[in-house]
Amino acid sequence: MWIKNRNISFLMTSYLICLSLFYHLVLIEAYLREEGLADQKILFLVEDNMQSNLAPKPTIKVTAISGSLRKASIHHGLIRSAIDIANQSIDDMSIHFIDISSLPMLNTDLELNDMFPPEVEAFRQTILQSDCFLFASPEYNYTVTAPLKNAIDWGSRLPNVWADKAAAVVSAGGSFGGGLSQYSLRQCGVYLDLHFVNKPEFFLNAFDGPAKFDDDGNLIDDEAKERLNDVLLALKAFTLRLQGPKFVNGG
Ligand SMILES: Cc1cc2nc3c(=O)[nH]c(=O)nc-3n(C[C@H](O)[C@H](O)[C@H](O)COP(=O)(O)O)c2cc1C
Repeated sequence: MWIKNRNISFLMTSYLICLSLFYHLVLIEAYLREEGLADQKILFLVEDNMQSNLAPKPTIKVTAISGSLRKASIHHGLIRSAIDIANQSIDDMSIHFIDISSLPMLNTDLELNDMFPPEVEAFRQTILQSDCFLFASPEYNYTVTAPLKNAIDWGSRLPNVWADKAAAVVSAGGSFGGGLSQYSLRQCGVYLDLHFVNKPEFFLNAFDGPAKFDDDGNLIDDEAKERLNDVLLALKAFTLRLQGPKFVNGG
């Protein structure tokens, strides 16, 4: 009984001491503010900490672009799989597919009164508002496809909307798994000031068995899905490194 009472009075005393400390801290802060002596850094630190604890973590917005226009495209399939992986197992990252099939073939005569055609303007806005990109780039004759190059070129018209963003590229194809298209794309990235994740690389030999895709272009290969997951994690880490302060401060 005596021990129980001692515990209760100990708890009460601790509680009162904490309450009194907090009260005095508030008084000191109020006094410093009134006298104009407040050390803003200390005050802001308290506020910042409270805000960063309360603010929802910003989500990395990934725009995914496929260089194919085919309905059953295996590159659309890679993007669908990436979207599933991000939704299921990667925090704070959302991937949205953007259709480039409606973009007109680039012709600067279409830029009237400093305006782009509406489809191009909408595309450019999406690119501008993205944090980073996932390209699924088929290889046509050792390079990128015409639709993908067209989309890249529209984005490069001034002001270049690709600039200073992170990107990852994946591909599937013949023996090198579409790898040459990736190097062409990375080459464009130099002038665009687009920063590609170097590792891990993702090439997928789609034509030798066992089948990696079903007839609708869906990725059915578990090992490839795991590698795709690693690419997405690398893209997330690289985007955070590039834009660190934005995500840390929740801007
Ligand atoms: C015009 C053309 C050129 C191609 N050139 C290559 C090539 O250089 N290397 C390669 O691995 N596959 C090549 N292919 C095969 C593509 O990799 C294959 O069609 C692939 O499925 C395209 O991707 P998609 O299914 O997303 O459309 C070529 C296909 C076409 C239509």
